[in-house]
Amino acid sequence: MGDTLILGIETSCDDTAAAVVKNGHEVLSDILHTQEVVHAPYGGVVPEFASRVHIEVVDRVVREAIAQADTRVDQLHAVAVTQGPGLIGALLVGLSFGKALAYSCDIPLLGVHHLEGHLASARLGITQIPFPHIALLVSGGHSNLYAVQSPEHYEQLGRTLDDAAGEAFDKGAKMLGLGYPGGPLIDQLAQSGDARKAPFPLPYPSTQSFDFSFSGIKTALRYFLQTPQKHHPDTTSADIAAGYQASIVQVLVQKTIHAAVCYDISDIVVVGGVAANSLLRKTMADRAATHQFRVHVPELRYCTDNGAMIAAAGWNAYTHREFASLDIEPFAQQPLRDRPETMISCGTVNELPTCVLTT
Ligand code: KG4
Ligand code: ZN
Repeated sequence: MGDTLILGIETSCDDTAAAVVKNGHEVLSDILHTQEVVHAPYGGVVPEFASRVHIEVVDRVVREAIAQADTRVDQLHAVAVTQGPGLIGALLVGLSFGKALAYSCDIPLLGVHHLEGHLASARLGITQIPFPHIALLVSGGHSNLYAVQSPEHYEQLGRTLDDAAGEAFDKGAKMLGLGYPGGPLIDQLAQSGDARKAPFPLPYPSTQSFDFSFSGIKTALRYFLQTPQKHHPDTTSADIAAGYQASIVQVLVQKTIHAAVCYDISDIVVVGGVAANSLLRKTMADRAATHQFRVHVPELRYCTDNGAMIAAAGWNAYTHREFASLDIEPFAQQPLRDRPETMISCGTVNELPTCVLTT
């Protein structure tokens, strides 16, 4: 079989992105139009504005992706488009564009689940990622832990019970008056802070569950900011950002390592926007090293939303001939279906008292 070129289009939220990927992992082009400046004054994404900007730029972004890949539209083998979850109006733009392109070029359309895209982002740029692996998927809308057996087979071990990790960063940044999107701003500010000067409780650190919960730590931050007299007088906002970030990261790392120990899987993948966090990347690598686990984290640009991950996930569908019909609809919410090939053996979490947790 010759090379397979797939165009990936992503418009699920506030990024208009397109990329051409060869054989599921080799990125030939990657174009991103971020709408940060449009939404920043409102402190979050305004869905109506997001759809409008997607409409304005999607044509240019896709054209640039095809040109940068030094290819022609008639050389593409398929068009992969994010079908959901996301903002319906925003998704509709990419999906309609992708359908029209696939129809006019007479090539298959591939409807991609956004989370499958994030999971596939770990494979970009490298030929092979070991299976099985534990995947921590942390983004603005999700904080999930998976045991991934193959590109098509995964089992969800945990999820967030309330806010996602990215949401905790975004809302925390808002309370600190930093702006939007909050994750990178907290990450940056925390570099000059001292987490020990602003200690926060660990959010839902239970070793009996792989689920996460981040709503409590937001409340802790609110109280912290409301009662300055209780803290050391020279506590800076950098210290607070560092303390807040450290608690979130600690729990993400702890539960991921716990899962790897419990399931006896020594490869760990961290994906999604929050995987760009410098403390998370470093702490995960350090903790994993003490267990002789390997950590695989995408390049920074493939952590946050991008077209290449959608093309990479689309490649799996393409190789299995799972083509979408031209009447597929976008969806706002839909969990990534558990598709374990065979359930990975592990007792229930409650039966794992012997798992060694480093703190
Ligand atoms: O995957 P993504 O681009 O979009 C969703 O699918 O949600 O993730 C966006 C999220 C935002 O909440 C953003 O604040 C967070 O990822 N993020 C970060 C960092 N960069 C982006 N969070 C912490 N540290 C970062 N460096
Ligand atoms: Zn995403």
